[in-house]
Amino acid sequence: MLVLGIESSCDETSVAIVRDGKEVLANVINSQIKIHERFGGVVPEVASRHHVYQISMVFEEAFKVAGVKPEDIDLVAVTEGPGLIGSLLIGVNAAKVFAMMYKKPLIGVHHLAGHIYANAIEHEMKFPLIALLVSGGNTELILMKDHFNFEIIGETLDDAVGEAYDKVARVVGLPYPGGPHVDRLAHLGKDTYKLPRVYLDDQSFNFSFSGLKSAVINLVHNMKQRGEEVNVNDLCASFQASVTEVLVNKTFALAKCQRVTNIIVAGGVSANKGLKERFEATLPEGFNLCIPSIKYCTDNAAMIAVAGYYQYLKNPTLADLTLNANASLELESK
Ligand code: KG4
Repeated sequence: MLVLGIESSCDETSVAIVRDGKEVLANVINSQIKIHERFGGVVPEVASRHHVYQISMVFEEAFKVAGVKPEDIDLVAVTEGPGLIGSLLIGVNAAKVFAMMYKKPLIGVHHLAGHIYANAIEHEMKFPLIALLVSGGNTELILMKDHFNFEIIGETLDDAVGEAYDKVARVVGLPYPGGPHVDRLAHLGKDTYKLPRVYLDDQSFNFSFSGLKSAVINLVHNMKQRGEEVNVNDLCASFQASVTEVLVNKTFALAKCQRVTNIIVAGGVSANKGLKERFEATLPEGFNLCIPSIKYCTDNAAMIAVAGYYQYLKNPTLADLTLNANASLELESK
């Protein structure tokens, strides 16, 4: 089964062609990072305009790389939400036009299901599992007992972890998106600054990162006022140590509480080397850990094609041409 995946929920225009939910024939990604860098974050109107410029070329490139024809496609899977509404609309409309022109079945896919299913490209997803979903907009702990069965058990009460990374990066003068820069510098420094570990209470699987972010901002401002120099590498290492300790410990605590031994990590922050290292170093005996390769961690259409494939197998309900983008779509079981 050849699935065409389309992703445009934020600042990446991406089209992929994937066979049987596994074999990635093409995964073309046009990133707007350079365009938004000077604004220190994604500007929604600018993002949607660039999706319009790029989408046809990204489609063409994907078919060229995959070496297949539009007629060969069996299913079209597109991110219908959540995300920036103007950005989502470009992908959804492109998918509808393609499905209509070539008379192909169409389904809408949840962006976070896409991140989770990025793991199915290189690994076998074994159930039940706990998914730690960490991105620029989300931080969630999800129990999955089967394909497309999602039970959100914990989530952030304030900032998403990627958002905290980006804000901390900005305060120490690193470019957008800050996560990869903080990660790199963290490996050059030591955990010397005393930063809080926010566990809320013992029973909770929720997260909170705004206090940690404010602690970093206050520390930087106070040191500047005293004329002291901030050791950016050590600060990045200290911030990363706090974040990864809480993420990893809560994930294992939930897994033990649910008697689950399969763990997957998903979303842009799953590209974080410190997080991977901590998971691997503290993995309990008998646990399985899956983290996608870096190219599948951040937004891409291959993960949407793969999620679309499994969603279709579980529930072959198709979308019609009334399919619309939904900026605040909830993650639902199928
Ligand atoms: O999943 P994603 O591509 O977009 C959505 O939010 O859906 O995630 C982007 C986020 C950004 O906040 C970025 O800073 C963060 O993922 N990120 C990282 C790393 N690579 C990307 N955060 C920490 N360490 C990284 N290596």
